[in-house]
Amino acid sequence: MTSTIDFLLSRQSNGNLTEPAPNKAELEQILQSAMSVPDHAGLTPWRITIVEGDARQTLANAYVASVKASGADEAKLAKAERMPFRAPLLVIVSTAYQEHPKVPKIEQSIAAGCAVHAMQMAAVALGFNAMWRTGDLAFCDVVKQHLAIETENDIVGYLYIGTEAKTLPNKPRKSFSEVTRYL
Ligand SMILES: Cc1cc2nc3c(=O)[nH]c(=O)nc-3n(C[C@H](O)[C@H](O)[C@H](O)COP(=O)(O)O)c2cc1C
Repeated sequence: MTSTIDFLLSRQSNGNLTEPAPNKAELEQILQSAMSVPDHAGLTPWRITIVEGDARQTLANAYVASVKASGADEAKLAKAERMPFRAPLLVIVSTAYQEHPKVPKIEQSIAAGCAVHAMQMAAVALGFNAMWRTGDLAFCDVVKQHLAIETENDIVGYLYIGTEAKTLPNKPRKSFSEVTRYL
């Protein structure tokens, strides 16, 4: 059994995802893991949208509308429409910014990012894997409007979750020493 520290040291995304998705009980554990992240003043400044099965077409429609609005060609439209089908389950995390005297927006967005990471780790802990994606289709008001996310909030991540279709070799890690100093 992998120790907790080995689990943390070996975390690795995998975008090659297929069925099965987590079942309802597993999904609820994944979602609950987001409720244990560091959260200044307990604002819970994130919202979660689940996209599974046929709902992926609704997301695909939002992507197509966005790409159309940017004037892209047919090939880009077709690519955008396929994107949500890269995994059986997507969890979209958006911010829910609140005015607070001690918690600026950046902290709220970091907490929302922690929620994405916690859910990725929870998915792995349950035997699945996941890939955190953003890109133009996250930073886009057209997509937000389709998903009923207020334009003043941010889409922090599309977390694609599923079963690994292909196991990836362990990738080499950079050393912490490249980015660390003692004061
Ligand atoms: C906020 C954020 C957004 C990301 N967006 C994308 C993305 O749109 N497309 C992508 O291929 N990887 C994206 N990544 C990176 C992948 O999730 C992943 O971390 C990267 O491919 C490296 O793999 P690893 O997690 O195994 O180290 C993003 C990561 C973060 C933290």
